[in-house]
Amino acid sequence: TPEQRANLLLSKMSVDEKVGQLNQVFDFSGLPGMPAPAQKLEDQVRQGQIGSILFVTDPKRINALQKIAVSEGAHIPILFGFDVIHGFDTEFPVPVGMAASWDPEMARKAQSVAAEEAVHAGVRWTFAPMLDIARDPRWGRISEGAGEDPYLGAAMARAQVKGFQGEPGQPLRFAATLKHFAGYGAAEGGRDYDASYIPEELLQNVYLRPFQAGVEAGAKSVMSAYMDLNDVPATGNTHLLREILRDQMKFNGFVVSDANAVGDLYTHGFSSDAKDAAFRAAVAGVNMDMGSGTYLKNLKQLVTEGKVSATALDDLVRPILATKFALGLFDSPYADGDESTHAVMLAKHRDLARVAAARSAVLLRNEGGVLPLAKTTRRIAVIGPLGDSQYDMNGPWSLTAKPADTVTIVAGIRNKLPGADVRFAQGVQLRKQFPSMFDGLIGPKPEAEWDADKAEATMKEALSLANDSDVVVLALGESALMDFEYASRSSLALPGRQQELLEKIVATGKPVVLLLFSTRPLDVTWASQHVSAIMDCYFGGTETGNAVADLLFGDVSPAGKLPVTWPRNAGQIPIYYAHNLSHKPYGAPDFTSRYWDLPTEPLYPFGFGLSYASFEISNLRLSKKEIHTKDPVTAVVTVKNAGKVKADEVVQLYLHQKSGSASRPVRELKGFQRITLAPGESRDVSFVVGAAERTYWSSATHGWTLDASEFDVWAGDSSTASLHDTFSVVQ
Ligand code: IFM
Repeated sequence: TPEQRANLLLSKMSVDEKVGQLNQVFDFSGLPGMPAPAQKLEDQVRQGQIGSILFVTDPKRINALQKIAVSEGAHIPILFGFDVIHGFDTEFPVPVGMAASWDPEMARKAQSVAAEEAVHAGVRWTFAPMLDIARDPRWGRISEGAGEDPYLGAAMARAQVKGFQGEPGQPLRFAATLKHFAGYGAAEGGRDYDASYIPEELLQNVYLRPFQAGVEAGAKSVMSAYMDLNDVPATGNTHLLREILRDQMKFNGFVVSDANAVGDLYTHGFSSDAKDAAFRAAVAGVNMDMGSGTYLKNLKQLVTEGKVSATALDDLVRPILATKFALGLFDSPYADGDESTHAVMLAKHRDLARVAAARSAVLLRNEGGVLPLAKTTRRIAVIGPLGDSQYDMNGPWSLTAKPADTVTIVAGIRNKLPGADVRFAQGVQLRKQFPSMFDGLIGPKPEAEWDADKAEATMKEALSLANDSDVVVLALGESALMDFEYASRSSLALPGRQQELLEKIVATGKPVVLLLFSTRPLDVTWASQHVSAIMDCYFGGTETGNAVADLLFGDVSPAGKLPVTWPRNAGQIPIYYAHNLSHKPYGAPDFTSRYWDLPTEPLYPFGFGLSYASFEISNLRLSKKEIHTKDPVTAVVTVKNAGKVKADEVVQLYLHQKSGSASRPVRELKGFQRITLAPGESRDVSFVVGAAERTYWSSATHGWTLDASEFDVWAGDSSTASLHDTFSVVQ
């Protein structure tokens, strides 16, 4: 087995060689304008000081470094890692968009394609999937997870790990990382990197559930987060990394720190110096130090002094070597990719990317059936800063895909209607609001701000194009780098002068379809009252434009559902559907939980999304009205497509425990299925609510609990479903 081979190898390795395996270094030399690393990587590899390198994606460089690693130094192949988040050559929708498809099988297929393309280049390990629950859309990294819900998050986690790695037991070609362990999404104020405070019950019931699913799916590695969790940095957190991850969750792969997080234990005011940082990360069980060099500089001395035992050192190295063996790197260390296959591969994978992007879009409003547009429409104005931006359509963390391969909205509509007059006007400038180290490296350099004359002229041009058209497709939202690491916002308003552009375009009286591109919900309260059609398109990747055109002209009916509650504005944050009941629930006559100046309900609820068809969900039947604690109950509903077009619907099941050792959320998602129905077709959809769906971590019992209680069940097309029944659980 890989473990046995790892043990055999360990018995022959020196302490220096072992410490080298725990050291991961960045190599940005492939990115334009980045300095070469201080010490030549080749020398370090030759000396056996490097176990893994991240950010190299050029197969030629990978093979050159690998050749040194396997024929000199420690004779151990390097594990090349990279952020393959939602594609490699072919970009798929950003993960939160993929979650909006409520289609884990699609996520599995997409990540399998991403893995294939990455492996072809010699990258054998990804830092994905990101499983952080995000209930604060000010946080830019909401883009990378599955949204606010642990059940949907767990389903997407399982699917992505299987996509990257295959089924447990199958030969491994690519390794996944579950990140960021844990609680990174709960950063105070939505400010990236800030501390998280998460009580144990919330951690267990919400934040850890997707990780548990990822561990069970066999993920080979976990990334420890940057920030403090409950006052202890995650990367030095023994409770988190040993008691929870290893003992409770039974994870047996390896932990890699987030970038420089081992060294940063000192910055946090936790470790007294770098040596203490190495010691505390090692004690907590961080196997690999990403980028800080702290292990490389200090671990040998800690072993010599007996502070870290020889056994503890072996325990850190073993799962890394075992993963290299499992990946077959010792037998076949080289990449076989070359440039000539890039085009072939992309063509092969585009079809799936197009389907995935269309399945991700969420139709938020369609008054008067403006959508779908007739294919006979002749004069189409595409307006807005996101209407023709190849870079942005790829989305954040698309570092290897070439923007030139990406289909924009303008191009997609032209492809769909070659005979139509499709014209584009940018209307306003969309700038990032702050400078970033990423500018020009992984994104275009931000343009200088337009002067007033240019701004006026450009808006005027857009308005005259609108006046001269039959329909306006307005592409607004955020630039991809606003939905990234190190990219929080305090407001959810459309950035720049986009709201002004929107209002002026609507005032022309032309039919307007608003396409939103962003990964966080935006404040579109005005649009929700004045614009006939709104579709949330996230960032759909390489095939965005073709997929959007499929939706706009009715070749595909939208069926995505929001994976995040959509607030009216940032003042409602945090807002999520699975909140606890107050003693005076909203709607009670007095002293209710409420704002003076805003309704308590969100603009759009979790699980919401419209269709070109209309579905009737009825006849909720429960297999039993009373069960014993460990028994399952089956809920069945009938779903009918009462519309005129073939379409998908996502049928959702929610549960509420009415009494017990602790208060439980008003509703929790406990089942969903995306189904396709022809017009007039009906189908029964069933859900099993077993003990697993009712078990929760109780702050009263300090453990996993299964209560006897009455339960509410709702089934429908969103978290506000009203089709309802109850059942009782008795001891
Ligand atoms: O994988 C990422 C992580 O999510 C954030 N910090 C940098 C890592 C490597 O790029």
